[in-house]
Amino acid sequence: MRTASALTLVLMVGLPLSCRIPPAVTAPPSESLQSVSPFPVGVAVGSDLLEKDRAYRAVVLKEYGSVTPENAAKIECLHPQADRFDFLDFDRIVAFALENGKRVHGVALIWHDSSGLEWLKDFQGDTAAWERMFKTHIQTVVGHYRGKVRSWDVVNEALNDDGTLRMDDDSATDHLGSIWARHLGTDYIARAFRYAHEADPGALLFYNDFNLKDAAKPAKIEAVVAMAEDFKRRGIPIHGLGMQMHIGVSADDDGIVGGMRRLATTGLLVHISELDILASDWKKDAGLAYSDELQQRQSDKYRFIAQAYKRSVPPRQRYGITVWGVGDAVTWINSNFGLQDWPLPFDRDYRRKKAYDGFLEGLKR
Ligand code: G3I
Repeated sequence: MRTASALTLVLMVGLPLSCRIPPAVTAPPSESLQSVSPFPVGVAVGSDLLEKDRAYRAVVLKEYGSVTPENAAKIECLHPQADRFDFLDFDRIVAFALENGKRVHGVALIWHDSSGLEWLKDFQGDTAAWERMFKTHIQTVVGHYRGKVRSWDVVNEALNDDGTLRMDDDSATDHLGSIWARHLGTDYIARAFRYAHEADPGALLFYNDFNLKDAAKPAKIEAVVAMAEDFKRRGIPIHGLGMQMHIGVSADDDGIVGGMRRLATTGLLVHISELDILASDWKKDAGLAYSDELQQRQSDKYRFIAQAYKRSVPPRQRYGITVWGVGDAVTWINSNFGLQDWPLPFDRDYRRKKAYDGFLEGLKR
């Protein structure tokens, strides 16, 4: 891996004077999130920014030991038409990762949210044809990255908050069901894991979801644990559980710790797979100021998450913590929800924030 000073030199050569280099990049302290952490710390990335934005790339190179494609491994990117795969985008991320000694975690082979994809929505065929298409998608993708992508979220967000299987759409509540469950039947998750394992027996396979808190309504986390136990009994190859962690600064600490502990009881790997912490607490407020106090609360929460993970998940089960985005300029939160927020450890210019300091400290101690 390049040293920080060599990296700085590379960044400075050939840059127009108008290009401002954030202080954190020109004078990096010797520590980084990855260097102080006892487990892998990762980040969700996009291929274009990795290649075109030097500050973005520098943060990924220096701070993180693992990368996840934010969108490039989703079916809409990798399999844009029924009879055509397009690996270019994710190949670029994988090449970057392998050149720089980073682990790659692929997200997500099967996700109900991809159902807007035209060819998938219009796919005609009986159950057998759906099964062939489902298997072909999984095995073509996993096979292409065999030996390169270390782990996969095989199925993402397949359960409702009440612990039942996501199935039907409900227009009254805007609830999106699962096109996969409707066409493939209730045991499709297990078969997705089997197919992925056949295509790359060396890859670690995860089930990933949100709202896995052990709070007042533990139905969802209990359903995930029950599914994992059932898979273990049946010999379905599952290796880990992903807890997304898109939370607000006021998120309930006990529920988070309880959730981590409950997932760890399965003996599987536990991945905090999509961490970001919203200053807005998910509330729309155009006038919200990112005050010192709010920044401090966010920093405390980042510290708390790192420490809670260490306290709650035994070392051999820690797959790591992945932050969902490199800097506040590119967070999915603002573009997808029309919010104005600053949920990441780096600011819009990829400078370290208070949130970074809290996270670093939590990883260290
Ligand atoms: O690429 C198109 C672009 O051509 C178009 O001009 C633009 C206009 O809206 O949209 C672009 O696509 C967007 C894509 O991100 C790439 O930026 C989609 O609209 C947008 O919906 C998509 O959002 C992603 C979202 O998943 C849905 O796939 C977010 O970036 C991504 O952070 C988010 O990630 C998910 C995890 O995979 C699973 N867990 C939840 C998390 C949020 O849903």
